[in-house]
Amino acid sequence: MAITIKGSTAFVTGAASGVGFGIAKALAKHGANIIIADIRQSAIDEALVWFSDNKYPAYGIRLDVTDREAYGKAADEAWGVFGGVEILVNNAGVEAPMGKVWLNTFKDVDFIVGVNIKGILNGIITFVPKFLASGKPSHIVSTASQSGMYVVPGAALYNMTKAAVVALTETLKGDLAGTNVDASVFAPGPVQGNLSVSSKEVRPAELANEETPTQIFAPTPPPEIPTGDSHTAGFVAPPPVFDFSSFLLTGEQAGEYVVRGIESGALYIFTHTEFRDSMKHKHAAIERAYPDEPEKAGFKQAFSFLTHNAVYDEK
Ligand SMILES: NC(=O)c1ccc[n+]([C@@H]2O[C@H](COP(=O)([O-])OP(=O)(O)OC[C@H]3O[C@@H](n4cnc5c(N)ncnc54)[C@H](O)[C@@H]3O)[C@@H](O)[C@H]2O)c1
Repeated sequence: MAITIKGSTAFVTGAASGVGFGIAKALAKHGANIIIADIRQSAIDEALVWFSDNKYPAYGIRLDVTDREAYGKAADEAWGVFGGVEILVNNAGVEAPMGKVWLNTFKDVDFIVGVNIKGILNGIITFVPKFLASGKPSHIVSTASQSGMYVVPGAALYNMTKAAVVALTETLKGDLAGTNVDASVFAPGPVQGNLSVSSKEVRPAELANEETPTQIFAPTPPPEIPTGDSHTAGFVAPPPVFDFSSFLLTGEQAGEYVVRGIESGALYIFTHTEFRDSMKHKHAAIERAYPDEPEKAGFKQAFSFLTHNAVYDEK
């Protein structure tokens, strides 16, 4: 059932900054009422100014997505503000210190799993029954990342939580087939945001590391350029050190992809075509890994529920 964004209400978590703010802005521009759900009240207040300046209807609710009881209350409150909710954007996320995963602490694990996986499940388990009961076309978008599709070295915890959001949404969309509710996973590439700063700000005291982690993710430095004629003869200069910021999408640009994904009922919502080759690279590795043996006759019929999933037939 296709959803009409104009006139709908979207509950966007982590909407006070970065990607979530951009999604909320794009949805507002396409005519949705916005509920900004975020753990940081000061950031909500700041974000609301943009909506009032631009005369878009928006309302803020302070919510920690890991708090299940508060989530239920926030959903009820949101339903009352604009007379219903049709879109949930499960976007709030955090990062943990990067580096070799065995050097992460159990507190890092609990923090990132709590927000990035359990927080998303809290949204789904709170909202889907309400969406189904409403009978109205409704949509859930959950923010993963390209790193949930193609892992970033040294970011195991983050990659793992984002891959979980991909698998969760792939399954959810299939389970919702034939109902009034649809689901998409948003897996953007680099977008302007404040994750490293906000993740420190929102980390609860009981999950604070006792010591500052010594492992800091340091990208491999570019090779040194030798100087002097004898050294530079035949020397091929390394690629220039890129200004990464020039490649970042704005939150609003990312939000436009989300709008289109909701309208088209996409399973995957991607932002950067540059990752297409990365997917080919990964899928080639997966295909190569299967034993080079003949298939057993009848296996695929017997196990069709394992070997074929119609969710991947979607355009
Ligand atoms: N920026 C990127 O390049 C990028 C790329 C891929 C995926 N993402 C994902 O996009 C999402 C947003 O990232 P961002 O870059 O916009 O970061 P951000 O820091 O700008 O925004 C994150 C927001 O989430 C809120 N938040 C954190 N914990 C919360 C909690 N427990 N309950 C409610 N709100 C909470 C923060 O207060 C903040 O406003 C994350 O899920 C992130 O993993 C970002």
